Amino acid sequence: MFSWLLSLFSAYKTTPPPAGVRIIPCSAVDLYAASGLVLTTGLVINARLDPQRLEDTLANLIERKFPRAGGRLAFRNGIYEFQIPDVFDAVKTPPARFTVENYEEAYNCAGRPELPIALTGWKPSVIPAPDLEVFLRSKTCPKSQDDFLKPNVPLLHVHVAVFYDLTFVGVTSPHIAFDALGTATLLTAWTRVLSGEDIDTIPGMQWDAEPFASFAPGSSSSSVKPKVRRGWFELGWLSQLLFILRMISRIIPDPNEATYFVRVPKAFLNEEKQKITTELKIQESSEYVGSSDVLIAWWLKVCVPLSVYLLASNNLFLAFSQTMYAIRAPTDRTPIHLHVVNSVRNQPIFAQDAPLAHPYVQNAVLSITVPPLPVRAFQTESLGALALRVRRAIVAYNADPAGVRADLRWLCAGANATKTLFPCPPGAEFSVQTSWRAGKLGALDFSGAVAGDEKAAARVVFVHPVVSSGKTVPMRGSGAVLMEDEEVVWMSQIRGKKDWERIRESGEIVFN
Ligand SMILES: *[C@@H]1O[C@H](CO)[C@@H](O)[C@H](O)[C@H]1NC(C)=O
Repeated sequence: MFSWLLSLFSAYKTTPPPAGVRIIPCSAVDLYAASGLVLTTGLVINARLDPQRLEDTLANLIERKFPRAGGRLAFRNGIYEFQIPDVFDAVKTPPARFTVENYEEAYNCAGRPELPIALTGWKPSVIPAPDLEVFLRSKTCPKSQDDFLKPNVPLLHVHVAVFYDLTFVGVTSPHIAFDALGTATLLTAWTRVLSGEDIDTIPGMQWDAEPFASFAPGSSSSSVKPKVRRGWFELGWLSQLLFILRMISRIIPDPNEATYFVRVPKAFLNEEKQKITTELKIQESSEYVGSSDVLIAWWLKVCVPLSVYLLASNNLFLAFSQTMYAIRAPTDRTPIHLHVVNSVRNQPIFAQDAPLAHPYVQNAVLSITVPPLPVRAFQTESLGALALRVRRAIVAYNADPAGVRADLRWLCAGANATKTLFPCPPGAEFSVQTSWRAGKLGALDFSGAVAGDEKAAARVVFVHPVVSSGKTVPMRGSGAVLMEDEEVVWMSQIRGKKDWERIRESGEIVFN
């Protein structure tokens, strides 16, 4: 009687893979990181590059060393997976989609958006992100995860816009396949090929590498059953509703988001760090802070006390009747949950309790949670005290590989990776801060790709991310450290437009 149902079920269960591909399922870490986003790592390089050389070297590198990066995303039998062509073919199954736009002129003519790289000055400053998408993505570049699920769409789309004086290289992929440091890993290997290194000596990634498989239930390492993922919240339906209402009530009065780049001179950062270090020495403390801790603490100190907030935020009825905004009161106790996104590639949690032994381009990030702090702490505590809180959370995290393993085991259990977790309980607020600093994008050397016979230096002078998604995802409050050079560290930060206006009025930071 149910045979038709059974046959339907088994038909669904057994959609065969297309011919000529190898298959690896997306890991739980890929799935939880996915959220449907498509990310472009946009590089601005200060020389005219040869697009053919760029394409040939990248294709060769993927084929020989990173076949997984040349895969396709598929959803088959209810599972997201990577399908890697057995044989790459420039026309039928390219390792990456490569598009080129040649401009017979210098970039700085025809009133194009100004790049923020000409800024100088000792003080930190912000500048609205110029719209460079047209130089970083081709017209046919996939913009949503669904676009990548269409047949034979490569995971990587590289768009090169060449001017006489500079070159844009936009590397686009779905977040379910690469995190930023994974992309940086591939880009680093690419520049090594470009500079003439023997490809055989460049470490690659096995097509079937599955470093997170050992955290799945039933595998040898899974002894204890963790109940939660540290720092994240599973909310009941009422709490979820409150969380969402609160979020909406913050968005309605300030509906438009704006991305600004934040330029932080290293001299400033080092001086602040030095002051903190001296203070710690005076106190005979053995603790320390890093410049990244100072950077996060400094940024949150600039903007958290100024952000608009909803009075009486815990009360559902008041939330609708009293949408009043103000600079936060000095007594504001609203807890801020700060999550620092962190790659686990260097954690001693893999085979033989060691870090990952090979480059890994797919997702490998979790987050470090700083114990929640009331808003007023960002007004009353010194920069040093705040930076120290960030450092202590990182030190504690690094000292506890068992905790990291437990987080991964939780994520790899059943359907946990696709569960919606909340970054804070409904009455609180949160900020997620990412850093691509370890990706060293500012140090990438593209000299080996300079066009013509000239031997010029070609380096990355700016990193410009583009993010898109099939759905509208509120991104406000999040930010990332993009790159650094000898002089400055660049961040991008997303906030409501009115929120930016308030920061401008505060005079805490220079607006360009
Ligand atoms: C999530 O992980 C926990 C701990 O391993 C497990 O008991 C639970 O069944 C998982 N939840 C789902 C929905 O798979």
